Amino acid sequence: MNINQNYLALQDSYLFSLVTQKVNAFKEQNPTKEVIRLGIGDVTLPLAPAVVEAMHKAVAEQGEKSTFKGYGEEQGYEFLRQTISNYYAKKNVTLSNTEIFISDGAKSDIGNILDIFDINNTVLVPDPVYPVYVDTNIMAGRTIIYSNGTEENSFLPLPDENTKADIIYLCSPNNPTGAVYNKEQLESWVSYALQHDAVILFDSAYEAFVQDESLPTSIYQIEGAEKCAIEFCSLSKTAGFTGTRCGYTVVPHALVKDNTSLNKLWLRRQTTKFNGVPYIIQKGAEAVFSDDGLKQIQENISYYMENAKLISETLKELNIWHVGGENSPYIWLKCPDNMNSWDYFDYLLENAQVVGTPGAGFGSNGEGFFRLSAFGDRVNVVEAMKRLRNLK
Ligand SMILES: Cc1ncc(COP(=O)(O)O)c(C=O)c1O
Repeated sequence: MNINQNYLALQDSYLFSLVTQKVNAFKEQNPTKEVIRLGIGDVTLPLAPAVVEAMHKAVAEQGEKSTFKGYGEEQGYEFLRQTISNYYAKKNVTLSNTEIFISDGAKSDIGNILDIFDINNTVLVPDPVYPVYVDTNIMAGRTIIYSNGTEENSFLPLPDENTKADIIYLCSPNNPTGAVYNKEQLESWVSYALQHDAVILFDSAYEAFVQDESLPTSIYQIEGAEKCAIEFCSLSKTAGFTGTRCGYTVVPHALVKDNTSLNKLWLRRQTTKFNGVPYIIQKGAEAVFSDDGLKQIQENISYYMENAKLISETLKELNIWHVGGENSPYIWLKCPDNMNSWDYFDYLLENAQVVGTPGAGFGSNGEGFFRLSAFGDRVNVVEAMKRLRNLK
């Protein structure tokens, strides 16, 4: 037998293991020094009380013969899809329940969606970006080209008419840069996709962090996007579901390629290879969108955004170039004194005992840049910023 040789073309995902290795080595040599981690991409605040209560109720239902549920509805329970459709209505986006697919998080759907596309499609991926887009296409053996995020375009690359792409990844608010596309910028991507018969895979995992109401939080707020875009969203960061697992993917009925409805293809793919998200979790997810749930998750988001503001203000004070942090939980800074990403990592660890994530781990354009996350505890963020100021 033969293996899928494409897997051998993957680069080792050494980023976070090397960070851990370096931190552990430092701690061993400096046992009394307290290290603060601002590198994590995981949340630290617990689930909202409304979510916990809903899940408790659902557990009790599953223990009673009269309310017990086995396999769920194919695309996810109607109650949750209707709730999500109502959430989109508040963004002035009309979705039918059959356009929404409940998932166990955005990562799996972002990878799995590739099943419905031909191997010969050319994929356009922003650099730097969330590494899953690149790796899943390498696994499939697809050709990848890159759109360049740079200091000059504030890490928001725009379409290039001379580039021919069939599948376009966009991530806004972006991980790792925290940069967010405005309406006109997204309009130019939608216009490109419509003109070139391409499909945009729009990752809006961080939409709930957008504070500026003029910025789009869904690609479907752009006219024509329903004919060219699939949207992936997640409750991981929005509502602390990183360990609980629930997300959703929108595939509009108007999205027709090769004379075929992509919604139908995705439904066929999901009903063949996926058996749904647990009832208990979907009940918890429904509660996220209740009045109490929304209020409670907003308190957590505000807490993280206050952290982001503290980081951003400190960097401004220190004259360190950065983007993000205003409408996203990530801050992307230019390493001072032209240091490369890993040198700056070592410098911060040794001199301030602050840990971030080297930008080079997110693509070659990330070299010379560094990601700080706002998902930590307030006291740690305040202390880390004090240490950064003292470096001067
Ligand atoms: C940009 C982006 N998309 C998707 C995901 C995956 O989220 P989930 O936990 O829903 O799988 C992440 C998680 O870090 C992310 O940063």
